[in-house]
Amino acid sequence: MEKEKVIAIEAQINKLFSPEYAIVKTLGSGGMGCVFLVCHQDQTLYALKVLEKAAYKKNKLNEMGEITALQALSHPNIPDLFEITEDDNYIYMRQEYISGKPLNQILRKKKTIEPACLSAWMQSTAEILSDLHQQGYIHRDIKPDNLMLTDDQCIRMIDFGLARQIGVTDQADRRVFGTLSYTAPERFDRKPATVQTDIYGYGATMYQLATGIKPENMKTDPQKSIIIIEEKLSQAVPSDLSLVIRKAMAVNEKGRYKSFKALLWDLNHPDLIISPEQEIQNIRVSALFIIVTVLFLIGLTTL
Ligand SMILES: Nc1ncnc2c1ncn2[C@@H]1O[C@H](COP(=O)(O)OP(=O)(O)OP(=O)(O)O)[C@@H](O)[C@H]1O
Ligand SMILES: [Mg+2]
Repeated sequence: MEKEKVIAIEAQINKLFSPEYAIVKTLGSGGMGCVFLVCHQDQTLYALKVLEKAAYKKNKLNEMGEITALQALSHPNIPDLFEITEDDNYIYMRQEYISGKPLNQILRKKKTIEPACLSAWMQSTAEILSDLHQQGYIHRDIKPDNLMLTDDQCIRMIDFGLARQIGVTDQADRRVFGTLSYTAPERFDRKPATVQTDIYGYGATMYQLATGIKPENMKTDPQKSIIIIEEKLSQAVPSDLSLVIRKAMAVNEKGRYKSFKALLWDLNHPDLIISPEQEIQNIRVSALFIIVTVLFLIGLTTL
């Protein structure tokens, strides 16, 4: 969002909320709005997310999507939504302020995240997403920018701007919104987002944190991208974590984890993870066993 617009929004906030709230600083600014750190007279800090109605209208997106999702969902690791105000141009969401840093900022400093830390962060992220999915919602914008590490070392999820109920498609399903690097390959064919889309975004996030590299764009040459991904992962993380990331990022959504519950099982049982090659081998052995049994039975009946 342009600087002039952010300044105009600041003036509007001062008009609407002063003297009760004072703007401390800008926390972030994206295409559809911006977020301010504001301080109440009683010294409580809040994140005030301001959505520009015109930007939502232009993109034919529902400006109430984030509010609906945050009101419907209940989870200790997502922000509480305290108050919604609007004027002709903007919607103001006063949210709980999460004191911490987004993972993209941490990654910029650290370059890569070492496996033990990565494992712990991604375990928490998978637990949050598993719960949100069970509550009937998908996030649709999973990336390091939307995961925060709090000052007391917990992972919290933010930015529910694209979240929606599972199975209820909307305009955002008909176009590719969000950052390309974390977009599941099937979304480039305009397939509506599913639980597997979040699983892909999670895998792409985990890959970037492990290697320091954004996943190659899956739009142009997914098979080539997967080869690069496997190569980079083999240098960055132990094989069990690599297998989890590869399965979460499978090009075909049918090859991905069915749910975060299944993914969590693998994260918690690294010795029991079955590689895709091993899975194919198991299918071959089973098929061979069936063929031999059928031939044996045919042989018996013809005796
Ligand atoms: N509740 C919060 N507590 C603390 N910081 C927050 C909170 N919400 C947002 N932020 C900060 O503001 C930044 C932008 O917020 P958010 O991701 O919600 O909006 P956005 O990315 O601009 O939105 P969009 O992706 O819809 O364009 C975040 O990266 C984070 O640093
Ligand atoms: Mg964001």
